Amino acid sequence: MKAAVLHGINQPFVFQDFENPIVGEDEYLVQIKHAALNHRDVWIQKGQYAGLTFPIVCGSDGCGTIVSGGSETNKDWVGKEVIINPSLNWGENPRVQNKDYVILGLPHHGTFAEYVKIKADLVYKKPAHLSSESAAALPLAGLTAWRALMGRAKAKSGETVLVTGIGGGVALFAAQFAKANGCKVFVSSGSDEKLATAKQLGFDGIANYKTQDWHKALAKESGGFDVIVDGAGGADFSKLIDLAKPGGRIAIYGATAGNLNIGVPAKIFWKQLDILGSTMGTNEEFSDMLQFVSTHKLVPTVSKVFGLNQCEVAARFMDEGKQFGKIILEIN
Ligand SMILES: NC(=O)c1ccc[n+]([C@@H]2O[C@H](COP(=O)([O-])OP(=O)(O)OC[C@H]3O[C@@H](n4cnc5c(N)ncnc54)[C@H](OP(=O)(O)O)[C@@H]3O)[C@@H](O)[C@H]2O)c1
Repeated sequence: MKAAVLHGINQPFVFQDFENPIVGEDEYLVQIKHAALNHRDVWIQKGQYAGLTFPIVCGSDGCGTIVSGGSETNKDWVGKEVIINPSLNWGENPRVQNKDYVILGLPHHGTFAEYVKIKADLVYKKPAHLSSESAAALPLAGLTAWRALMGRAKAKSGETVLVTGIGGGVALFAAQFAKANGCKVFVSSGSDEKLATAKQLGFDGIANYKTQDWHKALAKESGGFDVIVDGAGGADFSKLIDLAKPGGRIAIYGATAGNLNIGVPAKIFWKQLDILGSTMGTNEEFSDMLQFVSTHKLVPTVSKVFGLNQCEVAARFMDEGKQFGKIILEIN
């Protein structure tokens, strides 16, 4: 089969022939039509991810058709168009993942290829209202946003929510889900162009985190936030603590901007804030997220579509932060 393969740290994705996956008894073989990039793929390429192994076919997101299955699988699923839950071996405890938990695309070969093998309980019917291209955008980022916003921060209708770095894949889902959940949604970005696009999408307020004291005007305009969903961390984290209302919840799923500056600890305890870590989610949360997307007929924002042979160009596009939403690879 054709695949985009990484052979080492800081090496480009190489479009090449690669061995076909051989399915186990409880696995399906899925012919991938579209895959999507996540920042994880770029971290892996840069060697900034745990458990590196090469050569590796990255890619956690995919939409495609089941072409065959092992002896323990339900053959009625052969021919069905599915999306893949990349959250492998979560385990029994909804509170936290198993210690052998991994994400599809490292250490197991992922979706930047014509075929991928996947455990039978991790395939879900593609939401009927979505094209293959937009369905491929959903899994990893949608699941991460869902658990952070709904599972951990427990955002409720009528609450005021801030989502940072709206250009990001996870961030856009979090903002979309919050809006559909009846929240008042503000978003930040380092790009005025992305903020203008966000305004057109119907979000309630915007702020450019590259302007000085951006949080002060935002605090006035919003009245503070019940919930903040953040994938950046870094020096500005203390501003998020300032922006949170007393009793507020801040869910953190990433650290694109580096280590957290928490500022004055008293602001956290005096305001009774919940600072919540969140990673991916359970199979049940994946199902709930898909149900929510189908009920509200939500359509993921696709930033740009590349061919599988352009995977390296797509990775650089993400690395330079040019995207607004998800970057897709068209495979078959
Ligand atoms: N814990 C998990 O399970 C999990 C799952 C998915 C992702 N992540 C992590 O979450 C982060 C985002 O992932 P992604 O796939 O959504 O990445 P992405 O699509 O590449 O988005 C990254 C976004 O970060 C924003 N950003 C950069 N610097 C910022 C800053 N100083 N303040 C606020 N926002 C800033 C940018 O938004 P603007 O362009 O709008 O400025 C950029 O679009 C990555 O670090 C990733 O590794 C974790």
